Amino acid sequence: MLIHTLSEKTQYYLELEENFGAHNYHPLPVVLEKGKGVFVWDVDGKKYYDFLSGYSAVNQGHCHPRIVNKLIEQAQKLTLTSRAFYNNLLGEYEKFATEYFGYGKLLPMNTGVEAVETALKLCRRWGYEKKGIKDNEAKIIVCENNFHGRTTTVISFSTDPQSNKKFGPYTPGFIVIPYNDINALQKALEDKAVAGFLVEPIQGEAGVCVPDEGYLSKAKQLCEAYNVLFIGDEIQTGLCRTGRMLACDHENVRPDILVLGKALSGGTLPVSAVLADDEIMLNIKPGEHGSTYGGNPLACAVAIESLKVLKEENMMQNAEAMGILLREELQKVDSRFISIIRGKGLLNAIVIDHANKDAAWELCLELKENGLLAKPTHGDKIRFAPPLIITKDQILECVDIIADSLKCLE
Ligand SMILES: Cc1ncc(COP(=O)(O)O)c(C=O)c1O
Repeated sequence: MLIHTLSEKTQYYLELEENFGAHNYHPLPVVLEKGKGVFVWDVDGKKYYDFLSGYSAVNQGHCHPRIVNKLIEQAQKLTLTSRAFYNNLLGEYEKFATEYFGYGKLLPMNTGVEAVETALKLCRRWGYEKKGIKDNEAKIIVCENNFHGRTTTVISFSTDPQSNKKFGPYTPGFIVIPYNDINALQKALEDKAVAGFLVEPIQGEAGVCVPDEGYLSKAKQLCEAYNVLFIGDEIQTGLCRTGRMLACDHENVRPDILVLGKALSGGTLPVSAVLADDEIMLNIKPGEHGSTYGGNPLACAVAIESLKVLKEENMMQNAEAMGILLREELQKVDSRFISIIRGKGLLNAIVIDHANKDAAWELCLELKENGLLAKPTHGDKIRFAPPLIITKDQILECVDIIADSLKCLE
């Protein structure tokens, strides 16, 4: 095992969190204080490539000047009104985003999981009001190894014991089926109490699991045939990350309920949203759902700019091209410890095959030493998801760093 020494400064910040913060995370031992584009800097001034991008929240790159300028401009004017009153940006944002994604209405929230919760409530409500499911009997189909966030309802249908062990009792009304299994979906859809199917187009947290081509489009067709809503959780996969505006676009699937978060603010503040057509959205009436910060003018200004930047700076095209290059170059890396390379656009992962079960963690420590930050998920998988503005030369340099770092596993 490699021993990397930490600076006194780094040690100081690690100890602060250890002593005064809850222990609900296990970060890599690096303390960051600055970010710009694809790079971040630690408290000792060392520069790194960011290959996590805040779990795909920083698609536009760290501290994107246009987004930060909007944030500052709006912060000096008006930040929060609550929804007790109108503000002059929410409607503009709703108009902009519904036209951008092609939906009838938008419901603004803050974190990703709140948007997922909103989608579940909208789906249940639609089930009762429109599909005629008996009150309190609606079911929603979800997939094994899903990750949709951390609230009690959402962890109720997680299949990861780390997420839900000893957090029960759990919210009922969910049917769990294997991911990427169209027959299992069809069977589950036969239950007339099913109102929705909630799915990640690529399972990010599970380790960038890409379903078979055709899975999403067949799933959508089945949902239509059974009068069930297809809920696309694009919080991690959306907003150009996979080389399309939405990962569902790879199969021309239009979710009935679209859930967005993360890069909707380019990593500046929590902004999430649910989009759907009137038939679904208008079943929730005034006073029945909301959030103090949801739709605040600061978030609206930042979200409009974040969406504009994605299109105007061709991030979708770059993610597609750089993703292909990254996977091609990784394939050429001669290491017996990489068993799988997979992904779409710039949402990628490698799977480490090594006798030492901590090998992926150790590789990430070595990558850090060599100037690239990545984090293992579920033990043996490492996600490679840089900001979407990364260039060809930078990709090549990063692959060199990865190839070099892999030698530490020999
Ligand atoms: C697919 C997906 N859904 C939901 C969430 C939850 O988002 P948040 O952490 O902002 O609540 C995440 C976060 O990683 C995610 O990847």
